[in-house]
Amino acid sequence: MKKLLTTSFSILCIHTLSVSAQADESQSTLLNMEQKQALVGEAKTNIMSLAGALTATLKQGIKADGHAASVNLCNLQAPAITKASSAEGGLTEWTVSRTSLKLRSPANAPDDWVKNIMNNFEQRKANGENAKNIAHTEVREGRFFLVKAIPTKAGCLACHGANVASDVKAKLAELYPNDKATGFEVGDIRGVFVASKEL
Ligand code: HEC
Repeated sequence: MKKLLTTSFSILCIHTLSVSAQADESQSTLLNMEQKQALVGEAKTNIMSLAGALTATLKQGIKADGHAASVNLCNLQAPAITKASSAEGGLTEWTVSRTSLKLRSPANAPDDWVKNIMNNFEQRKANGENAKNIAHTEVREGRFFLVKAIPTKAGCLACHGANVASDVKAKLAELYPNDKATGFEVGDIRGVFVASKEL
């Protein structure tokens, strides 16, 4: 039997995250419904905090200096912000990261396990699911994982869309010579957040 958990919430940024996570049979032997619900809640809080910090920095940068300069800002700040909002930063037991099937930064490369999940997410989207509702939970190697699709929004297109302005394009080419993260449309899955914690 598949259990469906649906919780929606919004944050004061451009993201509205909602998660519907499907449990597989194997983890019901490890976690009861309440434990799982609590972990999903914590995972979402940690994802929101990273998404919020990235969005705030991005919006500030774009407002002050425009998109091309904000590519620099992302290049400098995104890895540090991601690190700070994870166990590595020492503030939480959770590790949160971002990755994608079409990468911009090679430092965000996925492992095979996440890659398979992202391929499955693309299939689910092709079958009609809305990207903002696509998520997956799993207990693996003693850790609880929530993987959540990141939908492409209109505000992402200046740097991830099909018609990136030439100054932004030049900056991207300079900093990310192997950039695959353009050509997205609103509603596409831009990538995923991966939140995990040791049980
Ligand atoms: C000002 C340009 C800019 C905008 C606008 C922008 N991004 Fe990015 N994005 C970047 C850069 C630069 C990186 C690489 C950051 C790094 O080096 O870690 C990146 C990386 C990412 C990654 C990590 C995976 C990868 O490919 O390296 C995701 C996921 C992502 N962006 C999603 C989004 C979403 C969703 C939006 C809209 C809400 C958005 N971005 C808006 C410039 C931008």
